[in-house]
Amino acid sequence: MSLQSYFYNNDVLNLKTNSGAVPVSEIIKKYERPTYIYNQQSIKNRIEAYTAIKSSNYSIHYALKANTNIEILKFIQRHGLSADVVSWGEAEIAIKAGFLPQQIIFSGVGKTKNEITKAIQSGVGLINVESAPELKRIIQISSDLNKTIDIGLRINPDISVETHPYIATGFRENKFGVSSDDFSEIMDILKSQNLVNLKCLGLHIGSQIQNLDPFINSLDKLLDCVAYFRKKDFKITDIDLGGGIGIDYMSNDETAEIERITTWMNIIAEKIKGLDLQFHLEPGRSIVARSGILVTEVQYIKQNQYKNFIIVDTGMHHLLRPPLYQSHHRILPLKFHKSINDFTFRADVVGPICESSDVIGFDRSFSEVKEGDLLAIMDTGAYGFVMSSDYNHHSKPIEILY
Ligand code: LLP
Repeated sequence: MSLQSYFYNNDVLNLKTNSGAVPVSEIIKKYERPTYIYNQQSIKNRIEAYTAIKSSNYSIHYALKANTNIEILKFIQRHGLSADVVSWGEAEIAIKAGFLPQQIIFSGVGKTKNEITKAIQSGVGLINVESAPELKRIIQISSDLNKTIDIGLRINPDISVETHPYIATGFRENKFGVSSDDFSEIMDILKSQNLVNLKCLGLHIGSQIQNLDPFINSLDKLLDCVAYFRKKDFKITDIDLGGGIGIDYMSNDETAEIERITTWMNIIAEKIKGLDLQFHLEPGRSIVARSGILVTEVQYIKQNQYKNFIIVDTGMHHLLRPPLYQSHHRILPLKFHKSINDFTFRADVVGPICESSDVIGFDRSFSEVKEGDLLAIMDTGAYGFVMSSDYNHHSKPIEILY
């Protein structure tokens, strides 16, 4: 069975549902542009892959940072995932969507006193600690509140990975996590008190990593750390392996991508067998990226001596990924005027923002494109709307979960 979230039928782009397909142009008929459309069946397919191993020892925490649309959060909660948040704002929207505080992992390198207080008061499942000063702050607050709290320690494994440098997080020069040089200081601080309980060791090496090797490597490093901490009398019961795997933005082969999730989960199961560990994973992108498209309307076709431009009504204010990470998103017409096999018109797809960085796609090939045509910017369900702004005082896009 094809697992594509969107596909062409008779030159018309369709959203795939569990019972068939709907032309995207039908879905957005009554909405203004630009619009993010999310395909819930696509999200469900990923949740199923991550949760195929039916064991209470596995908790998959959806990383809210990828997409905090409330309808998506409710959908993900209903389908059994827990949550990973990096601000109290994300925790609040997670709770509003139905996640229990105990299901929430609170991660992030810069938690304020106010955020830590709220997290302890509301009883979040785990606070992931990223430094000795943060640990001291948590101990102080739990002592002021006279409340116990379970924590995880995020380790910086010093692994360099193939991804954009802005989203690599597990290298020694990154701001994240605690290096093994600091373990003894952390252990001393923990032993000096009894309200804060270290039960989990975790790490996160980066996002948009497609190769499984660095993940396997990092799991091995984490298991070594578990053995070390246990030897020092810390009762480590949980591990947290951070985010999910990347997706191939150049390709529409979603079946291979979902199979890779299954392979990864099976490798994990094999490696932690018999170790008496509760396992946590925090995927974001791989759950929601493919579900989303940003539908935009062509405003003008502009040509100068050097280039063609397709000027659309969305841009870097709605989708920051291309200028920020030089990332690629396929740009497809909702309907081909000629044939799907004709790609003779080359142009940069640009937005209305007063910056030359406002390019969604450089030198893309299209068949005929006209003013008023609708284009879909593909694979924008993750880190799309959440990173949008009203720069130049434009409105934000609409969002629809279908
Ligand atoms: N857990 C932690 C601690 C993280 O830092 C992240 C992502 C995740 C989980 C989720 O990772 P994922 O499964 O989505 O790869 N804005 C960037 C991505 C930044 C991701 C940062 N951390 C982008 O648009 O590519």
